[in-house]
Amino acid sequence: MIRIAIFASGSGSNAENIVRHFIENKMVQIHRIYSNNPKAGAIDRAKKLHIPSDVFTKRNFTETNDILFKLQAEKIDLIVLAGFLLLIPNNIIEKYTGKIINIHPSLLPLHGGKGCYGDSVHKSVISSGAIISGITIHHVNEKFDDGRIIFQAACHVNKNETTESLSEKIHTLEYSYYPVVIEKIIQNLFLNKP
Ligand code: GRF
Repeated sequence: MIRIAIFASGSGSNAENIVRHFIENKMVQIHRIYSNNPKAGAIDRAKKLHIPSDVFTKRNFTETNDILFKLQAEKIDLIVLAGFLLLIPNNIIEKYTGKIINIHPSLLPLHGGKGCYGDSVHKSVISSGAIISGITIHHVNEKFDDGRIIFQAACHVNKNETTESLSEKIHTLEYSYYPVVIEKIIQNLFLNKP
């Protein structure tokens, strides 16, 4: 059984989509949804989906080993970020090297890095005059949106595109691809090994 912890700070629609994708899969368990935001929609979704959840403070996350120890105690194999806004601290990066992945709502390295999240990404894409945008699924390192790219998918940015319409297109791509890419990553990391 491969155990996944999802980290989410916001609405959590990707988190829910991932939970639903793996619900029937006996090899993969979404073990817990973590958040730094007590008001995150992700926490309400976790309750509705009967997935345990946990909220921590930024200080607890970045300045103690509490969350790392909890992940280890729960034998978490893979950490999936889905709209999680804090930088992952080094203690967790070191113990989970290659086993933390994130999704970013643009074609990295464009429109990524500190401060580039949510609608600010789509605004940045539209004001740059880009005619395509997309999603990037990537490994997580000690910098924002900087780890090795695993997968990208693109969509058109129309002349009359708004942040809302682009966000909707991007979410549609995320829902189609993130769970299946996670499944492939699990295959490669854990299930193809003798
Ligand atoms: C997604 O667009 C994801 O790419 C980004 O944050 C957003 C989270 O959306 N990292 P949601 O909370 O899953 O709806």
